[in-house]
Amino acid sequence: MPSSNLVILREALAAEPGFVSGAALARKLGVSRVAVWQHMERLRGQGFVFEAVKSRGYRLAGRPATLHATFIEAHLQSRERDVPLTLLNSVDSTNDEAVRLLAAGQPAPFVVLAQRQTCGRGRLGRVWHSEVNGNLYASFAFRPRLTPARLATFTLWMGASLCELIANFCGVRPGLKWPNDLLFDGRKAGGMLTEARIDADQVRDLVFGLGLNVNSAASAWPGELARHATSLAAQTGAPLDLNRFTAALIGRVLLAYGQFIAGDHLDKIADLWHRHDILRGRPVTVLQGTRRITGTARGIDDAGSLLIRDERGRTHRFTAGEVTLEKAG
Ligand code: BTN
Repeated sequence: MPSSNLVILREALAAEPGFVSGAALARKLGVSRVAVWQHMERLRGQGFVFEAVKSRGYRLAGRPATLHATFIEAHLQSRERDVPLTLLNSVDSTNDEAVRLLAAGQPAPFVVLAQRQTCGRGRLGRVWHSEVNGNLYASFAFRPRLTPARLATFTLWMGASLCELIANFCGVRPGLKWPNDLLFDGRKAGGMLTEARIDADQVRDLVFGLGLNVNSAASAWPGELARHATSLAAQTGAPLDLNRFTAALIGRVLLAYGQFIAGDHLDKIADLWHRHDILRGRPVTVLQGTRRITGTARGIDDAGSLLIRDERGRTHRFTAGEVTLEKAG
């Protein structure tokens, strides 16, 4: 049974840019018009602006700038509504919270979001800066029945799918830096951290973590980060509707996961990756443990490995590693 707030927000969105009548809302909720007005007042206290016009009803004229779980749910398509969403004010790491919920037996898939993380983690043990700054810290938990080898292309497929979403939603095209960075002109806008627990030859569970700079201002970054980070808003020149974007992102991640499980990504991934690949054709150095190769990036193979051609024309494959772009020439 959807909550009253969820019903009101769905109806207000469906009526946009017009009005939803108070009488219609009262009928739908089975309450008085005074009770509807009280719900509206509560939503106003949570950052919504409702314009009220006599004989026309209410019109959504302003929305919260921070994440609001019910407003995200109000934007979800019906097929995505069964996936539980947890929004926390503060958590150590949404990935860690997802692992705890999986260990406690919560049915997957589910989504964990947070306004801030106190121990946000990046790849290779790095810190992910996670203040309350209009950005997104999200983890998606799954229980796929897959062999671990099948996961090799998972993050790449998710990254390429997210680039498509961002291009469609924002009108700006991010680049992908193998294996998990989303960038604009060399500045990082997002990073992915996929973590799996393996039982013998099967993936027990899988957490896909995404940190995406959505609305933070350039001035929000401390120290060095200010030179290396960017946000979607900095690229488009205007803040995004964070809750609408988050709902679209949830839909896209669930869709991409379904395609991945069905194997539908196999004939698309190379094409989609290459559309966004910022490394292809450029001089790079890749470091994987003690293995270090300098050469030209040649894209990915079907297994998601990064291909590097060295100056003697030999091709090297990397299944993991840290890539540094070198100066051309
Ligand atoms: C990277 O670029 O190294 C990956 C960064 C991943 C950050 C996200 S934020 C949500 C989720 N929770 C975490 O602790 N990390 C991921």
